Amino acid sequence: MTYKLAPSILAADISKLGEELEAVKRAGADYIHIDIMDGMFVPNISFGITVVEGIRKCVDTFFDVHLMVHDPIRYIRDFVEAGADGLTVHYEACDDLDATIDEIKSFNKKVGIAIKPMTDVSVVLPYMEKVDMILVMTVEPGFGGQKMRKEMFEKIKTIRSYAEEIGHEVDIEVDGGVGVDNLDEVLDSGANVIVAGTKIFKGDIVANMDSFKSIINKR
Ligand code: DX5
Ligand code: ZN
Repeated sequence: MTYKLAPSILAADISKLGEELEAVKRAGADYIHIDIMDGMFVPNISFGITVVEGIRKCVDTFFDVHLMVHDPIRYIRDFVEAGADGLTVHYEACDDLDATIDEIKSFNKKVGIAIKPMTDVSVVLPYMEKVDMILVMTVEPGFGGQKMRKEMFEKIKTIRSYAEEIGHEVDIEVDGGVGVDNLDEVLDSGANVIVAGTKIFKGDIVANMDSFKSIINKR
C-alpha cells in the first residue's frame, strides 16, 4: 500500500503560509490538504479560490482540496483552475453526486467523496468504482484541533474490505484528530492517506513531520 501524509494548512500560521508550505514540503509532505469551508455546509469559513491560486506559486506538491461546501459542483472548475490536483466533495453536500464526480473527472483530476461522522458508510460503497478516494471524517467537519472519534475506524475497515472484495484500489483518507499517539491504529484500520493539521503545524513543524513519517515508514 502507498501511504501519503497530507498536512492540513487549516492549522498553519497564515501570516507565513508560504514558509510553512516550504517546510512541510522539504520534510516530505506528499499532499497539501486544503480545507475549503463555506459557512453553510459547515459553520466555519476558511479559504477561497484566490488563496489556492496564491499558494500554488509556493510549492508544486499535490493539492488535496477538501470542499466543505454546499453543492460544490458550482465551484469545481474554479478550484481546478486555481491549482487543485484532487477534489473531495461531501456526500451530504451534493445535490447530484454522480454529476459532481463526472465534473471533476472531466478535468482529469482525482476524485474523492467524504462522509461526516453521522453518515452511514453504506452510502459511499455504490460510488467506490467511480472514485479515487474515500475520506472518512473522524471529527465533525468545520474546525481543527478536535478529538478523534475512533469509532469511525469501523467505517474504514468496511471500505477497505469492500474494495478488496470488488478488486478496486481506492485510497482511504482519514481527517480529524490524527496524531502520533493514534497513527498506528489509524493505519491498522486500513487508511492510507493521513491528514493532520494541529499535530503538524503547532510546535516544531520539521520534528512533527519526522515523527509522523517515521511511523508511516515502518509500514
Ligand atoms: C476539519 C478539517 C480538517 C482539519 C483537521 O473540518 O477537515 O482537515 O484541518 O485538523 P486536525 O488535524 O487539527 O484535527
Ligand atoms: Zn479536511
